[in-house]
Amino acid sequence: MNALRCQGDAAARSPVRERRQRRAGSRERGRPAQVECNRDVREGARPRGDAWIRVEANRLERLRLQSSGMGVSRENVATKIALEGLTKSYLGMLPVLDDVSCKIDEGEFYYLTGVSGAGKTTVFRLLLLIERPSSGTIHFDGEDITRLTVAEQALHRRRIGMVFQDYRLLASDSIEENVALPLRVAGYRGSRLRKKIELQLEQVGLAHRRRDGVAGLSGGEKQLVSIARALAFDPTVFFADEPTGNLDHTMAHRVMELIRNLHQAGCTVIVATHDLTLIRAFRARTLLIKDRKLHEVRLAEQRVSG
Ligand SMILES: Nc1ncnc2c1ncn2[C@@H]1O[C@H](COP(=O)(O)OP(=O)(O)O)[C@@H](O)[C@H]1O
Ligand SMILES: [Mg+2]
Repeated sequence: MNALRCQGDAAARSPVRERRQRRAGSRERGRPAQVECNRDVREGARPRGDAWIRVEANRLERLRLQSSGMGVSRENVATKIALEGLTKSYLGMLPVLDDVSCKIDEGEFYYLTGVSGAGKTTVFRLLLLIERPSSGTIHFDGEDITRLTVAEQALHRRRIGMVFQDYRLLASDSIEENVALPLRVAGYRGSRLRKKIELQLEQVGLAHRRRDGVAGLSGGEKQLVSIARALAFDPTVFFADEPTGNLDHTMAHRVMELIRNLHQAGCTVIVATHDLTLIRAFRARTLLIKDRKLHEVRLAEQRVSG
């Protein structure tokens, strides 16, 4: 199986940026203002199941944490994603996210956690521009994506590989047809399409099964297909929304190893999960959504190492 690939210099290669630059005569765009996210709590007791999320949230309150840390850049590392004053309310409801500010550097790996309904999926939907923020800005490679035109939004989404807990595959189609779908939409045809599909399937170890129907696959295999599909445009950012929620231990680890490989290849990764066992096995920085805010918690602070 080939090593997973991920683009490096995203800011320079952004299709949205290139299009803008062509139109605006390569005008240099400004960097976003520095933004902050609460940072907090030391690793302590190790409660089981989802209880750890509540324990971490309670510690946040006890310690009355002040903003610090996360807004401070590591030197020479570009900001990949910056949320500033971001509020999201669905119609007629209290905000899910209220005045959230946060910065994620290029090449970071974060878990995103919080109780069910906290807003994890909403964060992804905002970053993919499937939902519009009620107020605030979202910068991506230094560019405010809330201001993109519809055509630019489509290009923006190609920078992001996204997988979901429920795979979102076409059950009546083959593995290769599922992987082909976004490529066909983007105009890939013939040998160019076949080569690209082959490459993506090799990266998850399923090239030899390309003609198999998706319906007969196990949950874990379906998730591998959805990861292969997510690699269509060599994403610089990879989001996974509870990707192991339906998988057994072995397949959950295989999926996480693939995601870790993407990170090691240079992708900026955010994985939403409740699964403390997984976080402990594949350690990374952790963001907790609590009381409509985003906090960095030190539950599993080490770099992803396996
Ligand atoms: N399209 C929508 N319309 C109205 N409310 C929504 C919509 N999507 C999510 N919500 C609500 O927003 C809150 C956060 O949802 P979600 O982001 O899915 O949380 P999580 O992924 O953490 O479980 C929940 O209360 C949910 O019911
Ligand atoms: Mg969700």
